[in-house]
Amino acid sequence: MSAPPYHPVVPANPADADAIVACWWTLMAVHGPIDGRMYETVPDAQRVYREHVRRQIDASKGVVLVAPTPDEQGIKGYLLGGLGQRSKVYAVREVGMIFDVAVHPDHRRQGVGEALVQAALRRFRLRGLSDVQVTWSPENRLAHGFWQKMGFAPLLIEAYRKL
Ligand SMILES: CC(C)(COP(=O)(O)OP(=O)(O)OC[C@H]1O[C@@H](n2cnc3c(N)ncnc32)[C@H](O)[C@@H]1OP(=O)(O)O)[C@@H](O)C(=O)NCCC(=O)NCCS
Repeated sequence: MSAPPYHPVVPANPADADAIVACWWTLMAVHGPIDGRMYETVPDAQRVYREHVRRQIDASKGVVLVAPTPDEQGIKGYLLGGLGQRSKVYAVREVGMIFDVAVHPDHRRQGVGEALVQAALRRFRLRGLSDVQVTWSPENRLAHGFWQKMGFAPLLIEAYRKL
């Protein structure tokens, strides 16, 4: 039996920001058809997201990881996460947050997403956290299968209605 492919995962640096934005755009392409209104972006969304990525790379609470391509000239995918606070009433107060994960379509279903998430989980554990949260749309078939494979179970339903 052959070993599963190995995908190195490293902390992102500011030079990765454009490649991260390109990957994020493929994530947005999945969400647009799910709800065109709620996922409609502003004209300069890519610039706004690039700045957000750069800030998170510098933030002490940010967890921004990339899986570089073998030639290290690009990335196969990225994960953007951080630390989240729950209400003071809960014993489990601080949790790891995974905000965005996207793998470039050319590299999907080869274990890159799993490598990114496992690397983030290791970092959260090293910070002493016991739990990690992610949000996904049940209509995003890629994400639904993926997060279940990664051991995540739904706890809440986030719902909207038009006013
Ligand atoms: C979700 C995503 C990050 C997974 O990355 P990946 O590198 O393909 O993940 P892995 O190869 O580690 O695991 C793939 C798993 O996802 C699930 N999956 C992927 N495509 C699927 C599909 N078309 N139908 C059902 N499940 C699917 C399966 O569980 C699959 O495991 P398998 O290949 O062993 O069957 C990637 O599909 C992606 O970037 N999607 C677009 C952005 C997105 O939806 N991000 C998540 C937002 S919360």
